[in-house]
Amino acid sequence: MTRTIAIIGGTGLTEPSRLQVVNAHDVQTPYGHTSAPILEGDMGGNRVLFLARHGHPHRIPPHQVNYRANLWALQKLYATDIVSINAVGSINIEAMPTRSMVLPDQIIDYTWGRIHTFYQGDMESVKHVDLSFPYTDSLRDVLRRAARESGKAIADGGVYGVTQGPRLETAAEITRMERDGCDVVGMTGMPEAALARELKLNYASLALVVNPAAGKSSKVITLKDIQATLTVGMVDVRDVISETVRI
Ligand code: HPA
Repeated sequence: MTRTIAIIGGTGLTEPSRLQVVNAHDVQTPYGHTSAPILEGDMGGNRVLFLARHGHPHRIPPHQVNYRANLWALQKLYATDIVSINAVGSINIEAMPTRSMVLPDQIIDYTWGRIHTFYQGDMESVKHVDLSFPYTDSLRDVLRRAARESGKAIADGGVYGVTQGPRLETAAEITRMERDGCDVVGMTGMPEAALARELKLNYASLALVVNPAAGKSSKVITLKDIQATLTVGMVDVRDVISETVRI
């Protein structure tokens, strides 16, 4: 099967600046609407899909994203590999300072109340997918190589703790997450990764650290600071995406 990469753009990446868009798909799904029309286009001679996770303009909060519709629709358009872009806070600030990129290899899910499976029917039709390793190794390999070839540093591996949001965490929650082994914290990693696995899609996250997590700095976390980091950091993310598509 030919590989088709789909980028799910997170906060700070609602537009795929380097994609020559040829089509915008409004896919009807059994689960309702996707966050935005799915853009199909050409990037360096490769077919690439792009979906703004929070809509475009950015309007859907993390706990209200229709993760099922998004992934189902991407697969319907023949996506095989999903590259998820996630803005995160840093818990392990020495290894993953603000503005650094991370290629997480594990997840701890602290979300609640989100629709988190395609298996809603009776027990007979339920499959208990193996999520021991939530990210696809081969796709992580491609992202690692893409970072290297575009001359960008990336922290290879790390535990992504996914919180419910939309509020940020308390300092005590971050201390607990640190004890649990989390390196970064964000709000959109789950149930996306698990749903991708249920659909047998390759899936990996390219995370950009946009702030120190709660209690990890003496400064208040402001949207203004996060926005400033997003603006500069997403240039690196875009470079890695361009290279990923080429590999
Ligand atoms: N916490 C949760 N989600 C986030 C953060 C954070 O500090 N920064 C960006 N997304």
